[in-house]
Amino acid sequence: MVMLAKPAIEQFSYIRNSRPTALFPQIPVVDLSKPDSKHQIIKACEEFGFFRVINHGVPMDFISRLESEATKFFSLSLCEKEKTGQPKPYGYGNKRIGPNGDVGWVEYLLLTTNQDPNLLRFLSGENPESFRFALNNYMSAVKKMACEILEMIADGLKIQPRNVFSKLLMDEQSDSVFRLNHYPPCPDVQSLNGSNVIGFGEHTDPQIISVLRSNNTSGLQISLRDGSWISVPPDQYSFFINVGDSLQVMTNGRFESVKHRVMANGVKSRLSMIYFGGPPLSEKIAPLPSLTGGEQSLYKEFTWFEYKKSVYNSRLADNRLMHFARIAAS
Ligand code: OGA
Ligand code: NI
Repeated sequence: MVMLAKPAIEQFSYIRNSRPTALFPQIPVVDLSKPDSKHQIIKACEEFGFFRVINHGVPMDFISRLESEATKFFSLSLCEKEKTGQPKPYGYGNKRIGPNGDVGWVEYLLLTTNQDPNLLRFLSGENPESFRFALNNYMSAVKKMACEILEMIADGLKIQPRNVFSKLLMDEQSDSVFRLNHYPPCPDVQSLNGSNVIGFGEHTDPQIISVLRSNNTSGLQISLRDGSWISVPPDQYSFFINVGDSLQVMTNGRFESVKHRVMANGVKSRLSMIYFGGPPLSEKIAPLPSLTGGEQSLYKEFTWFEYKKSVYNSRLADNRLMHFARIAAS
């Protein structure tokens, strides 16, 4: 593996007992083709902040093409990959996640979803056009599905207009991002005897909604409301939806963003692709009046720019919404 010169054992964080602590309940599955799916989505967002979707309408061809382009990209030499630029925050990065000391057994490519020519310049591999084409097809299909889900959420919560959330992703200025994560097999996993190497440390996603698709390698875990962790069985044909911090705020805490992490695998590599649907930078994020039910809102209003800055200046595992919570009146 080209990522590291030093043995990982000296550099990485471990979890002594990373075995999932809860075997039940099962992760909710939502069939988007069913008429009652909006109610299932609301229930899943309230109880887990996370669910799997099937019959999502994203062509399998878009998914497998992007997977094959991403696999080609990550198999380039380190030097080639680094030509795409250091992640500040966009570009290619490995093991260092963000600027605050978080490390993981992962390499990644972080992109804006707007057509920023500077960012696409990195695609200097053999066939940059086909990577770009695969990215565009995939991202537009996944964004469309994310917007449909957000509209079902608005319907399910009886909020008007139904594009109250989706319009933030549809906005030309939407600050949505796209991430490809590659977790190579980690040789230390077997030798560590019960401990596990962290691929991506625990965190919540700060945007409104995240749409994750991975190959068939396990590793993703989510935290339940009681603090226990469960493994998410991988399914390359499904998408996994995360409630992000911004949706937690807009629903005044009725939905909670889901804490999740990835453990490295000793044998197989994991490839995941995540679309993070976010609002424009200048957008004010605050609980929707129709959801505060006359009570005080739990969060102060902030712009997405302010929140993003605060996230960027914190550690992955920090409770980043805490600074924006109103102190409960005594
Ligand atoms: C992330 C994330 C999970 C994965 O990038 O925010 O949670 O499977 N990734 O890579
Ligand atoms: Ni995440």
